Amino acid sequence: MKPSKGGYKSHLIYSVGIIIITFLRQAVCLENGLARTPPMGWLSWERFRCNTDCENDPDNCVSEQLFQTMSDLMITDGYAAVGYEYVNIDDCWLEKFRAPNGKLVPDRKRFSSGMKALSDYIHSRGLKIGIYEDFGNFTCAGYPGIIGHQYSDAKQFAEWNVDYVKLDGCYSLPQDMDAGYSEFERILNSTGKPMIYSCSWPVYQIYAGIQPNFTAIRTHCNLWRNFDDIQDSWASVESIIDYYGNNQDIIAPNAGPGHWNDPDMLIIGNFGLSYEQAKTQFAIWSILAAPLLMSVDLRTIRPEFKEILQNRKIIAVDQDVFGIQGRRIYKHKGIEIWSRPIAPLYQTYYSYAIAFLNRRTDGTPSDVAVTLKELGLISNTGYRVEDLYENVDYEILYPTTKIKVKVNPSGVVMLKAEVQTNRINQLLVKKLDFFSALN
Ligand SMILES: *[C@@H]1O[C@H](CO)[C@@H](O)[C@H](O)[C@H]1NC(C)=O
Ligand SMILES: *[C@@H]1O[C@H](CO)[C@@H](O)[C@H](O)[C@H]1NC(C)=O
Ligand SMILES: *[C@@H]1O[C@H](CO)[C@@H](O)[C@H](O)[C@H]1NC(C)=O
Repeated sequence: MKPSKGGYKSHLIYSVGIIIITFLRQAVCLENGLARTPPMGWLSWERFRCNTDCENDPDNCVSEQLFQTMSDLMITDGYAAVGYEYVNIDDCWLEKFRAPNGKLVPDRKRFSSGMKALSDYIHSRGLKIGIYEDFGNFTCAGYPGIIGHQYSDAKQFAEWNVDYVKLDGCYSLPQDMDAGYSEFERILNSTGKPMIYSCSWPVYQIYAGIQPNFTAIRTHCNLWRNFDDIQDSWASVESIIDYYGNNQDIIAPNAGPGHWNDPDMLIIGNFGLSYEQAKTQFAIWSILAAPLLMSVDLRTIRPEFKEILQNRKIIAVDQDVFGIQGRRIYKHKGIEIWSRPIAPLYQTYYSYAIAFLNRRTDGTPSDVAVTLKELGLISNTGYRVEDLYENVDYEILYPTTKIKVKVNPSGVVMLKAEVQTNRINQLLVKKLDFFSALN
């Protein structure tokens, strides 16, 4: 909308058309008992990249100290208490060459105690360890890939007591991935050590113009990347939000307990996102049932960003038991509404997490007004509606109630609408039971 000569309209009221949503579920999937809800933890890549210069930058280089420090902070600063569990190493942990016996060698200087010692350290804190490798000849940063060594590498991960393997796709052919990624799942399984398996299989195929076989992907992977690596900017977060919204009919149905779409790391608390934008990333990621992998310096994160990452109500949305990925149900003039069915379920009526997102840049909060019915919330028993960021309780609202929210530019308002069970009917039934018991 262009500003008229008379100036900007300060409050825009959007009325939302009737939306019919179907949340399709799929049946076949990887059943290794892991990732029943999206994995939560910390991952080095976005914040620390491939910084190998421990001589000049000892506090920020990819080294065992970095992962030990982050493990400690995950406990002492309350992240583990709200569900963050995995401490994940990304690229650049290896020596450039394998040992003469073909084994992978962690960098001798930066991981001088060895990978088993780091794994023991992380486990001793009650946390779990993730590691990074690549399906091709090399990792993306040029370290040895697994090709030709799949069995011995998987065995080595199992011996190190690794809990999570991210397998990237650089230096390989996307047309080999259907066979290669599924083969490595079987090899990981054959070690007997349960390991979450994170794949980059679809994203490389999409870039090569191949339509990924999501039936196969969700049969072999616990999570997988669909789109670009996240960068430290709002533009990057927006591009991911758009990709997931524009392609939701293909992407969303593949998610469920044990198998998740991965829109990449949380960059909350770094340099690129404002406070509002950070709240938006967390809200939309939870609607998407995304893995919550923080990539931030936990030593220096500001308290307001830490508070976002530790918002228990929004984490509960992300970790919802049904594991149904949410969708963008409205997009018009820079206003979006995203919705995710969650527990509890009453008869056939879900509860919902609803995110109102303002992509406008015209400098003042936008009002959005909508009835619950228009959001697809149609149970006559009503919904208890609360704001998940602000301390606002709307109490019980009904399908015809109009709800009005004020959404900041590049910000979000996130609500939970919990379907009410029909208490009056239940009381009546109990009373009748009581009287029939007397007779
Ligand atoms: C990987 O290395 C092998 C052996 O050198 C080579 O034949 C193959 O083309 C390489 N693959 C890619 C995708 O570069
Ligand atoms: C291996 O696969 C079987 C069959 O899907 C599953 O029951 C088992 O938990 C898997 N084991 C590991 C270690 O992943
Ligand atoms: C996709 O993968 C499934 C399971 O591996 C397989 O049965 C199916 O034939 C594949 N579909 C295509 C189009 O290749």
